[in-house]
Amino acid sequence: MASSSSLMLLTIALLISSFMVASAGNFNQDFKITWGDGRANILNDGQLLTLSLDKASGSGFESQNEYLFGKIDMQLKLVAGNSAGTVTAYYLKSEGSTWDEIDFEFLGNLSGDPYILHTNIFSQGKGNREQQFYLWFDPTADFHTYSILWNPQRIVFSVDGTPIREFKNQESKGVPFLKSQAMRIHSSLWNADDWATRGGLVKTDWSAAPFTASYRNFNAEACIWSSGASSCSSTSTNNGGWLSQELDSTSQERMRWVQKNYMIYNYCADVKRFPQGLPVECSTS
Ligand SMILES: *[C@@H]1O[C@H](CO)[C@@H](O)[C@H](O)[C@H]1NC(C)=O
Repeated sequence: MASSSSLMLLTIALLISSFMVASAGNFNQDFKITWGDGRANILNDGQLLTLSLDKASGSGFESQNEYLFGKIDMQLKLVAGNSAGTVTAYYLKSEGSTWDEIDFEFLGNLSGDPYILHTNIFSQGKGNREQQFYLWFDPTADFHTYSILWNPQRIVFSVDGTPIREFKNQESKGVPFLKSQAMRIHSSLWNADDWATRGGLVKTDWSAAPFTASYRNFNAEACIWSSGASSCSSTSTNNGGWLSQELDSTSQERMRWVQKNYMIYNYCADVKRFPQGLPVECSTS
């Protein structure tokens, strides 16, 4: 009797935990396709999403939920081969004219030439905070994890767990921080051959279309915003969790390694662009 009831409890616990794992990242539940007229597809029972682009149209999706802070991971496999002119954008964005936004954009290239990972941060409708990187692997050969940690103190962009960029809350210096507008996750695959590849010099090769990018293993530990209130997933699992997470010294060292070896543009170093002086958040101290 005792053993059969504990077996029952174990079975229930296993059912609950497998349900939670399954619901942690299901594209059917967590996202909706927003445009592309059949060019975006959710496959394998919600475990895989693909976007495609051809001469007539690109495609895109967005999250059902709006988030106000979170640690959001997604695995992407980018358009392979000659992807020049294509852009895969993956970003968080709020609504309205003074929106907040956190961007990853992947600019395609000719076969064998490197993608550019373009990043930007908008607070209250103002961006101009671009940083660009090459990657230390071929992002079209396999899935890689692109993460955004967004908490009240900082925004960290990471690739396969390696931080590449940190934007700290510097409200004390008068720099608006992203902290009061909930954002949805958005992604789209579109044609930008008027600017993306060396300023529009290389055109999209439509004979290689349709172009396809794939997504899997979405995971969000986050605060979900709904009818004016926020509810957060447990943050107590690792030292207070993501809501107060900062970069330890090892992570900072790895970020310096990426920035030293793979960063190809940094607005904070572009003195020509800001003749009146670099933006306030660029001074480190
Ligand atoms: C494409 O490859 C060229 C040559 O390596 C490089 O200069 C450029 O930054 C790459 N990316 C884009 C988007 O043009």
